Amino acid sequence: MKFKDLREFIAFLEDKGALRRITSPVSHELEITEITDRVIKSGGPALLFENVTGFDAPVLINMFGSQQRMSWALGVDSLDDVVGRVDGLLNLTHGPPQGLINKLRTLGQLVRLGSFQPKTVNHGPCQEVVISEDEVNLYKFPILKSWPLDGGPFVTLPLVITKDPETGIQNYGIYRMQVYDQRTTGMHWQTHKVGTRHYRMSHELGLEKLDVAVALGGDPATIWTGSAPLPPDMDEMALAGFLREEGVELVKAKTNDLLVPAQAEIVLEGYVTPGEERLEGPFGDHTGYYSMEDPYPVFHVTCITHRKDPIYPAAIVGRPPMEDYYMGKVTERVFLPMMKLILPELVDINMPAEGSFHNLVIVSVKKEYPGQARKVMHGLWGLGLMSLVKTIIVVDHFVDVHNISEVAWRVTNNIDPAQDFVFSTGPIDDLDIGSPTPKFGSKVGIDATIKGPHEGGRQRDWPPDIAMDPAIKELVDRKWNDYGIG
Ligand SMILES: Cc1cc2nc3c(=O)[nH]c(=O)nc-3n(C[C@H](O)[C@H](O)[C@H](O)COP(=O)(O)O)c2cc1C
Repeated sequence: MKFKDLREFIAFLEDKGALRRITSPVSHELEITEITDRVIKSGGPALLFENVTGFDAPVLINMFGSQQRMSWALGVDSLDDVVGRVDGLLNLTHGPPQGLINKLRTLGQLVRLGSFQPKTVNHGPCQEVVISEDEVNLYKFPILKSWPLDGGPFVTLPLVITKDPETGIQNYGIYRMQVYDQRTTGMHWQTHKVGTRHYRMSHELGLEKLDVAVALGGDPATIWTGSAPLPPDMDEMALAGFLREEGVELVKAKTNDLLVPAQAEIVLEGYVTPGEERLEGPFGDHTGYYSMEDPYPVFHVTCITHRKDPIYPAAIVGRPPMEDYYMGKVTERVFLPMMKLILPELVDINMPAEGSFHNLVIVSVKKEYPGQARKVMHGLWGLGLMSLVKTIIVVDHFVDVHNISEVAWRVTNNIDPAQDFVFSTGPIDDLDIGSPTPKFGSKVGIDATIKGPHEGGRQRDWPPDIAMDPAIKELVDRKWNDYGIG
């Protein structure tokens, strides 16, 4: 299962009965959101709106909106397959392989990895049509206005490409873009993101402008990698190639030196001027609240290239769960083995939909010494975008972090509130609404593990869980029909 572009993925989903085409006329303002919200919340299919009033291009939405579709997007039937491959890769790079055969195998796998690097090509379907300068008009595309108080239409599934001004390494990130007029948009680069870093650097280096390209569409694994929180110097296309087991084809943009996915549907080319900022928002955000107006950089579009018959991909966010929840679940699964390299006691992690990623993280740990739950909290608060997490709950290794009922039961039983809440302060997500001021705020860790005598001077033994004698269980199983209960 490998998809060259969005079209192959659409055909695959349709074949699986996981995509519906909607031919009756719909509005790009609010109506598509209301339909899609109902479909996502009821576990429905991907949607291809073929008749968006006033536009030629169809809108594809909810392609990632289930665990199954998200797995298919990455070319596998189950996310476990991807996690297994990441685990294998880490074993490959972690620790010396034993014996000649294993050494050769490792060498072979590393050579194979090399073949997954991006490939630069001279032509790509994303450049079949070229629209330059005065002809550029973003209003020709069915860009959605998602929610009633939104400040306008927003591009919601863009792969925004910039280059580190010092290393030249490209970054790819999904950051929404508010359309201001035919040729300018906002660039919602939040404080802690790599695109923002490039913007800040371009300011510090006194550059006149920072080139930007925005790809819409392409193969689904490549689109997803834009949401992956990779370290600044890691090229998302290397991850996309690894996931697809084939390098992503990149082509040089028409008006700048950035490389863009050749199989994209639409590419916007242009620049951001360091220091030029404009109010962005409001926008109905993935927290379930509106993000209100704030200044963000302005993206000037100088050229648009697209396929002859482009498909416009979009996602809506709002009160969770939405499509981005399923995209984030992959991140959670794929990054767990990497986090374990730094925090080996980590057993499992759950970022529930209701926590919008940064509000709540539940982890289980195999505890070996006093205070280890606290060590894990601080470790997580020191790890990339995990630094923004507001609430971390730590439970023991035998607790199922995905079972919220079990977590609530363990946490409320196990904690001594005066001792087991760890308060800290630090950077917080730009979307946080709870802190009195933006960007800096407090965090809480809840240690819901079993405590020993060295943790707060506990004087009592921990009571055992209630569990029935297995022999009685077996007896009741056997006799169940005799009881006549049904
Ligand atoms: C649908 C969707 C919309 C997103 N919108 C934004 C956004 O507007 N601004 C932002 O900073 N991050 C946004 N994100 C999260 C980033 O894509 C994510 O943090 C990613 O790691 C950013 O890439 P970077 O690590 O290279 O900066 C969005 C993610 C998804 C899935």
